[in-house]
Amino acid sequence: MAGFGNHFVTEAVAGALPQGRNSPQHVPFGLYAEQLSGAAFTAPRADNRRSWLYRLRPAANHPAYRPYESDTLLRSGPFDEVPPTPNRLRWDPLPMPRQATDFVDGLVSYCGAGDPGGGEGLAVHLYAVNQSMERRAFYNADGELLIVPQQGALRIVTEMGVMTVTPEQIALIPRGVRFKVELPDGSARGYVCENYGALFRLPDLGPIGSNGLANPRDFESPAAWFEDDDSPHEIVQKFAGRLWVTTQDHSPFDVVAWHGNLAPCRYDLRLFNTINTVSYDHPDPSIFTVLTSPSGRAGTANCDFVIFPPRWMVAEDTFRPPWFHRNVMSEFMGLIHGVYDAKAGGFAPGGASLHNCMSGHGPDKASYEGAVGAELKPHRIADTMAFMFESRFVFHPTRFAMETPLGQLDYDDCWSGFQKAQLPKGDEA
Ligand SMILES: [Fe+2]
Repeated sequence: MAGFGNHFVTEAVAGALPQGRNSPQHVPFGLYAEQLSGAAFTAPRADNRRSWLYRLRPAANHPAYRPYESDTLLRSGPFDEVPPTPNRLRWDPLPMPRQATDFVDGLVSYCGAGDPGGGEGLAVHLYAVNQSMERRAFYNADGELLIVPQQGALRIVTEMGVMTVTPEQIALIPRGVRFKVELPDGSARGYVCENYGALFRLPDLGPIGSNGLANPRDFESPAAWFEDDDSPHEIVQKFAGRLWVTTQDHSPFDVVAWHGNLAPCRYDLRLFNTINTVSYDHPDPSIFTVLTSPSGRAGTANCDFVIFPPRWMVAEDTFRPPWFHRNVMSEFMGLIHGVYDAKAGGFAPGGASLHNCMSGHGPDKASYEGAVGAELKPHRIADTMAFMFESRFVFHPTRFAMETPLGQLDYDDCWSGFQKAQLPKGDEA
């Protein structure tokens, strides 16, 4: 079903969805009506997100949760394992696991900010997995999940329907929605932004007008789908920073019909309407924002999800790659495929980089020299799809991120060896 945040209506069995009211005395077939609130009841209408689910059993029908015992590398805010560092960080791609590892156990936290309890901030995880989840579901009470596959498809079975995402597509799973991840390609790798803050939404377009960037109709939510399965299912949840588990005597994927505007969705990044200069200079990368999670400060996001897609470069008299930069915002970057135009080497698909608040960054020396020597004819950057999670909050790395051998200890070297600019003789004073 098409449209971002639309009010959808869907039923997997004809006649299952109540008509004219949300919670009738008798729901068709004796289904249980349940409201899933993704926003406070009294949130302004434009921000208010909720859906009504009609299911074989209430979601409340489960035994107590107990702590989930595992040696998970999943971490949560407050991120205080190691001191935050002003240094620029970059990592090689996460290798595929040797042991059977599913999506829950395969999440590896790199950095984050804020605290889920405070309702602000975010966490950045990577995953490398080789095992489908079977009779096991996960949900996150701490935030919504923006999943960015880098390698391998994910078939995501949710309470509200099934959607498959492949690299260059993204999935957005609302807080609380139970889901499992199956691996049609056998293994998969990618990135996850766990958003503790305001829900991701489409950015305002300002003078761009009423069209452009990510178009609302290109976001797709699944139609209702359910299974009638009375076998034991494990439910793992992330709550207040920790994992908990319970086993219930039936599948959680028993929602026969639902309606509302809180739902999982997917989006194909290749459909992004990329806007760029046709005169001179390199626009701020906010022009590439797909989704934004605003914070309390106007125009200063809790998280912007920004992509660097294939595009034509036509700027005249312009240094075309991203410029040298120091930013009050903090920038975590990943690469889905191809090459990023500010980094000639070292930034591999599946890898990542972190440039925190006011850390100088920009093109490496090879990219700089290529750009100042280039003939400025129209040039298409064809083979690329990089992205950024950009936040007003400083990213605090995890211990794993600081100690893993995937860390590139020589990252600073890509900015060494720049020749000093030469002033005209006699003008020094
Ligand atoms: Fe930057």
